[in-house]
Amino acid sequence: MPTFPDSLPAISDIMNRIEGRTVLVTGATAGIGEACGRRFAREGARVLLVGRRTERLDALATELADTDAAEVHTFAVDVRDRGAVEALRDDVAARDLLPDVLVNNAGKALGLELLHEGDPDDWDEMIDTNVKGLLYFTRAFVPAMVERDFGHVVNIGSTAGRWSYPKGAVYAGTKFSVKAITEGLNMDLVGTKVRVSSVDPGLVETEFSEVRFHGDRARARTVYQGYEPLRAEDVADAVHYVVNAPPHVDVFNLTLLPTAQRHSMVVHREESGS
Ligand SMILES: NC(=O)c1ccc[n+]([C@@H]2O[C@H](COP(=O)([O-])OP(=O)(O)OC[C@H]3O[C@@H](n4cnc5c(N)ncnc54)[C@H](OP(=O)(O)O)[C@@H]3O)[C@@H](O)[C@H]2O)c1
Repeated sequence: MPTFPDSLPAISDIMNRIEGRTVLVTGATAGIGEACGRRFAREGARVLLVGRRTERLDALATELADTDAAEVHTFAVDVRDRGAVEALRDDVAARDLLPDVLVNNAGKALGLELLHEGDPDDWDEMIDTNVKGLLYFTRAFVPAMVERDFGHVVNIGSTAGRWSYPKGAVYAGTKFSVKAITEGLNMDLVGTKVRVSSVDPGLVETEFSEVRFHGDRARARTVYQGYEPLRAEDVADAVHYVVNAPPHVDVFNLTLLPTAQRHSMVVHREESGS
């Protein structure tokens, strides 16, 4: 059994730099965004939860109201709607709720098809959500961070932004874009105390595949069979680690994979029944 030096801090000694901060999470009605919302609320942040499904937002707000969460605010906004994003910015500014931390998480893959046979409507929706939505939120909320010389943008990228894969070219293209935008924004903010990071997961079991396969749950389940995928909470832990780092530390990129996954397409699956 390995032993660890006494000098390592106990978990309980790790400083909570999140308490009292305002954290906005897009795509907070499911999966990774929902787990981030819960995690930041638990750490005592004031959380602003954005998604389209109001009933989910309401349910989460009710659930978190029973925890120690500092404050929970919900906003039904489609990230693709630039006017709605600007109106959201004006609304939260007027209520003194401008975020210290922006988690650009809302995103999706649609379809799994050879590029030359793909559905351009799916491409439009992926690009509008994963790239343009992220840009609209960044444009809306980063200026106030620069003005205060304090803040943190965490983009949820993907291992698909590092390795493309067959039948996933357009989704990978959006995540390569997120990587380029993260790098560029980070350089644009040199000289400020605004940090920029990306958290790039591999396979995470969420509603992601159900959305990708347009509601086909049985097909979605096969994506996660024969190995242990990441859980949304694993990614929320990583986002928490990135945001909770001391102000002089920017975890610029954090990539996490299930242990069974070594590349986009290299996943060790146990045969069923073995
Ligand atoms: N799951 C994975 O394997 C995986 C791996 C790497 C990266 N990622 C990335 O992680 C992020 C979250 O995905 P997830 O796995 O948590 O998927 P998910 O369970 O399907 O959740 C996606 C979230 O995005 C929101 N969303 C989608 N379109 C939106 C829009 N137009 N406006 C506002 N919100 C929108 C959804 O809410 P509404 O439908 O209520 O709007 C939902 O809350 C995405 O950027 C995804 O690309 C996922």
